[in-house]
Amino acid sequence: MIVLGIETSCDETAAAIVGDDRAIRANIVYSQLDEHRAFGGVVPEIAARAHLEVLDDVVRAALSDADIELADIDGIAATGGPGLIGGVIVGTMTAKAMAAAADKPYIAVNHLEGHALTARLTDDVEFPYLLLLVSGGHCQLLSVKGPGDYEQLGTTMDDAVGEAFDKSAKMMGLGFPGGPAIEAAAKAGDAKRFDFPRPLKGRPGCDFSFSGLKTSVRQAILKTGTDTLTEKDANDIAASFQAAVAETVADRCANAIAAFDEAHPDGKTLVVAGGVAANTALREKLSALCALTGFKFVAPPPALCTDNAAMIAWAGIERLRLGLTDEMDFAPRPRWPLEELKTDAA
Ligand code: KG4
Ligand code: ZN
Repeated sequence: MIVLGIETSCDETAAAIVGDDRAIRANIVYSQLDEHRAFGGVVPEIAARAHLEVLDDVVRAALSDADIELADIDGIAATGGPGLIGGVIVGTMTAKAMAAAADKPYIAVNHLEGHALTARLTDDVEFPYLLLLVSGGHCQLLSVKGPGDYEQLGTTMDDAVGEAFDKSAKMMGLGFPGGPAIEAAAKAGDAKRFDFPRPLKGRPGCDFSFSGLKTSVRQAILKTGTDTLTEKDANDIAASFQAAVAETVADRCANAIAAFDEAHPDGKTLVVAGGVAANTALREKLSALCALTGFKFVAPPPALCTDNAAMIAWAGIERLRLGLTDEMDFAPRPRWPLEELKTDAA
C-alpha cells in the first residue's frame, strides 16, 4: 500500500510518498520561513497564497522523487485540520481533486494524529503508548490506544511550549522561529545564571503552564537595562529558559508516566512528537526520566518531528488499513481536538 500525503496547515508546504512497509519514498518540505520572517511570525494570508502557488510543484516533485505515477498510489491523504484554515483548504481541495480525477480514496488526516503516529512509522512502536505532543500550537500528554483513539491526560493552561519558545525568542531579539534560535544560543550560555520558575513543578496532575516563565524572561531582559541584549546575556537567558522548560516538561511527564502505567501496565513507552521534540535538551531530560522509570523513550528524527507530509501519509495508511476514508464533502477544520476523532468514527 502506497499513500501520497499533503501537509499545508501552517507554514510548510509538504508532500510525501510513504509505503505500508514504512519506507519513505519521497519527502518534500518547502518552508515558507523567508516569506514570514520579516513579520516575526506566520501571516495566515501569506501562507495560504504561498501554499496555493507551490503545492502543485511540491506534489509533482514528490511523485518524481518516488518515481511513481499517481495511478499507482493507493490513497491520497491531506491535513484536514487543525491549522490555519486558508492553507488547510488549499491542501484539502488539491487532495480531493486528485482523488476524484484518479479515482482514489481520499483521507482527511488530523494534523495532530500525524504527529502522534509518526513513532509508528519511524520506530514501529506498538499501541498503547504515552505521547507528549509539543509544538507551536499544542502542548498535551495523551494515551494513544489506536488510530483515532486518544485520551488526554494533560494540556496547557495558557501557552503551548513552542509558543513560549517563539515569544521568548522574539523578546530576546533572536528572530523567528524561536525554538531553533534559542537552542542554538543556549549552547554557548550558562543555564544556571537565571533562576527562572518551573511552573507547576511538584504539583499533582499533568497540565502545563508557561506564561509565568515568559514573564520572568521579560523581567530578566528589562533588568539588563539595554534595548539590545549582549550576546552573552542572550545566550545565558536562552540556556536558563531552555533548562527551565525541559525540567518543567519532565516533571509533568513523570506524573503522566505514573498515571499511564497504572492504566496500561503493558505499554511502557513514552513517545515525544511535534516541533519542540527536536530540542536536544528536552530529549536528554526525557530520556533520563524514562531510564529512571523503566520506560522506553522514542523520539523520531528532528526532521520528522517538525511539520512534514510523511507523517500525514503514514496516518493516511493507518486509517486506510482500517477502511477509514473520507467523503468529498469533508469540511476543513481550523479546530479539531484529537479526542473528537473517536466520536467521528462512531
Ligand atoms: O510541529 P511544528 O513544526 O508546527 C506546529 O504544528 O506548531 O512546531 C513548530 C514549533 C515552533 O514553535 C518552533 O519554535 C518549535 O516547534 N521548535 C523548537 C525546535 N525546533 C522547532 N523548539 C525548541 N527547540 C527546537 N530545536
Ligand atoms: Zn505540527
